[in-house]
Amino acid sequence: MGGVLTAASALADPSLGEVSLTDQDFGRIVALVRQHSGIALSDSKRDLVYGRLRRRLRALRLGSFAAYVAVLEGPDGAEEQVRMINAITTNLTGFFREPHHFDHLAQSILPKLPRGQRRLRIWSAGCSSGEEPYTIAMTLRSAMPDLDSWDARILATDIDTDMVAHGEAGRYAADRASAIPPHLRRAHTQAVGSQVEMGAELKSLISFLPLNLLQAWPMRGPFDAIFCRNVVIYFDKPTQRILFDRFAEMLCPGGHLFVGHSETLYRVSERFQHLGRTIYRKLR
Ligand SMILES: C[S@@+](CC[C@H](N)C(=O)[O-])C[C@H]1O[C@@H](n2cnc3c(N)ncnc32)[C@H](O)[C@@H]1O
Repeated sequence: MGGVLTAASALADPSLGEVSLTDQDFGRIVALVRQHSGIALSDSKRDLVYGRLRRRLRALRLGSFAAYVAVLEGPDGAEEQVRMINAITTNLTGFFREPHHFDHLAQSILPKLPRGQRRLRIWSAGCSSGEEPYTIAMTLRSAMPDLDSWDARILATDIDTDMVAHGEAGRYAADRASAIPPHLRRAHTQAVGSQVEMGAELKSLISFLPLNLLQAWPMRGPFDAIFCRNVVIYFDKPTQRILFDRFAEMLCPGGHLFVGHSETLYRVSERFQHLGRTIYRKLR
């Protein structure tokens, strides 16, 4: 089966001539991606890997995937490993994606924060190009008129350094921003040429940081809520179990965890209560 896919992959890009992705090279790449990011690539992702990494071969002027693997595993491979992960990650996101999560934050979490609490911490873990943390920032701004008297911070992290830079710049194509409700778009964004830029009152709430969820975390927390949506779908169950356990440690008592629409903690973590619609509350 691998051989058939290899031939199909090579034929898909005639400009690469004889370059093919052998089982051995694919296996090394799968192992490196898993080791560095936790992303588990099945054989069905072979054409995706081929398509995304052939650009790296071209950029480095390499004639084979074997040569590319040698670069990755060589003494100076660390930089290319970052580029490889950037190329492999799937960064699909959007403003107000899965909007019921932001409704829940505004209507059921923020109004019930303990009386006297003035500190608020929310983590967008796997924030991609920043639409998710900016959506959280807009939700806080509109649900908490006295936000400026709070010590409120949103941490936005992703393993993909290109995405973190995009988020920090805070500029998006106008059609992407059309998913923002008009009154919030008017209040919190400005047109810059053909793009839309997030307002300073949103940017000042967010700290963007490159962070691999599988490695050590530099922050202490605790967080009132963690959004880790459409990220663990790429991880195997043992990796998910470890991650959800670490999220529980990072949340304050009763803190909330939001996961993506096709993700579940069922049989993966016993430390959360499911509130419905992929919203979880820390039990212990
Ligand atoms: C599909 S996007 C989801 C973005 C956003 N959370 C949303 O739901 O719209 C998944 C993101 O997870 C990031 N990611 C994958 N593996 C990661 C890891 N080990 N550590 C941190 N981020 C990771 C990817 O770079 C990508 O930007």
